[in-house]
Amino acid sequence: MLEQDIKKVLVSHEEITAAAEKLGQQLTKDYQEKNPIFVGILKGSVPFMAELIKHIDTHIELDFMLVSSYHGGTASSGVINIIKDINQDIAGRDVLFIEDIIDTGQTLKNLRDLFKERKAASVKIATLLDKPEGRVVEIDADYTCFTIPNEFVVGYGLDYDEKYRNLPYVGILKEEVYTK
Ligand code: IMP
Ligand code: MG
Repeated sequence: MLEQDIKKVLVSHEEITAAAEKLGQQLTKDYQEKNPIFVGILKGSVPFMAELIKHIDTHIELDFMLVSSYHGGTASSGVINIIKDINQDIAGRDVLFIEDIIDTGQTLKNLRDLFKERKAASVKIATLLDKPEGRVVEIDADYTCFTIPNEFVVGYGLDYDEKYRNLPYVGILKEEVYTK
């Protein structure tokens, strides 16, 4: 049913799960003995985080933050609002942010600066998708699964007006969906 609204599949479920497995193996090596905190950015990172952590074979802790930057539309506002923060002291800890997508870069730039102020031992970023053409502030992910063109995408956690997060792949919506 949801598939009827999709114009094109950009990243398939198989490609995502293979990339998550590969990244999980890499993170297992990079965070060996470090007991890092993986901080998922709600809500978009949930499917990716769930898949990724199955492939991490060392101790990690999980936490989540909810920040708003998009307000139900397709354009970025630039203002970061922390709606739900983590509830632990991260001073001296290795933190890895898990994101669905980096577009303007404002969300992660803000969060990275904040966590450095909070004296994390290290702050790194892993993202499922990167749209480098959308960038308005300078920031790069330390781990990126897929680099995509500057188009609005949905699925695998990414929403349009809170919908389509549950699609098992990443795709582009048909134009008529926006005008419904
Ligand atoms: P940034 O601060 O512009 O990098 O925004 C990152 C956030 O914007 C992501 O966590 C998404 O929630 C949202 N976002 C950016 N691009 C898209 C898209 O193509 N589809 C859905 N959400 C997006
Ligand atoms: Mg998001």
